[in-house]
Amino acid sequence: MRIGLLGAGGMASEIVSLLEYDPNNAIEYLYDGTIKEDTTKNGYTVSNKIRKDCLHIIAVGYPETKRKIIEPIKNKAYWLFALTSAPSFINNDSVEIDMGSVIYPYVVLTSNIKIGMFASINSNVTIGDRVFLGANSCIKEKITICDDVIIGMGAVVVKDIKESGTYVGNPAIKL
Ligand SMILES: CC(C)(COP(=O)(O)OP(=O)(O)OC[C@H]1O[C@@H](n2cnc3c(N)ncnc32)[C@H](O)[C@@H]1OP(=O)(O)O)[C@@H](O)C(=O)NCCC(=O)NCCS
Repeated sequence: MRIGLLGAGGMASEIVSLLEYDPNNAIEYLYDGTIKEDTTKNGYTVSNKIRKDCLHIIAVGYPETKRKIIEPIKNKAYWLFALTSAPSFINNDSVEIDMGSVIYPYVVLTSNIKIGMFASINSNVTIGDRVFLGANSCIKEKITICDDVIIGMGAVVVKDIKESGTYVGNPAIKL
């Protein structure tokens, strides 16, 4: 599929590697409203216009920048897809992943999990049963989230969560 990356910085270079893993992916360009048109980054041309002939994935880590890029296009769902990278273990037992979310390698998702829009789950993360991750939440690498946890929208999880409950904020704490 033809793909445009929304972002051209460090996270984009990571996502480029994940996408290149699958030969069916054709990265067409990286979008960055601030870099001079036609510059090359990570081996791909940077454009400051979003193309309508590509599917897009968000490749920006900072929540504010992410929001600025997503806001004008978020209702055009067909533009955005969730990226789940191999080798991860995703149980097919009711795992829902919404558009724009990125799941890095070596992630374990067990059962009855819902991941909202634009969440980022870094490498080596394990998520327990019946967990809900709100929109725009970020989970740091090597984190384990136990069963029956709700992570609020926009939360940044930087430590293991060992007790069920609802967690919000940056860094995420129990409500
Ligand atoms: C975390 C969440 C589940 C809490 O819902 P709730 O249990 O009904 O809690 P409330 O709305 O009563 O909020 C309780 C307190 O937490 C705060 N709070 C709620 N969600 C928060 C969040 N995401 N970040 C920071 N604070 C939050 C509220 O302001 C409130 O604070 P107060 O007691 O000082 O007034 C919910 O707010 C949330 O983030 N849901 C995810 C929504 C989402 O991602 N939807 C899209 C899916 S794709």
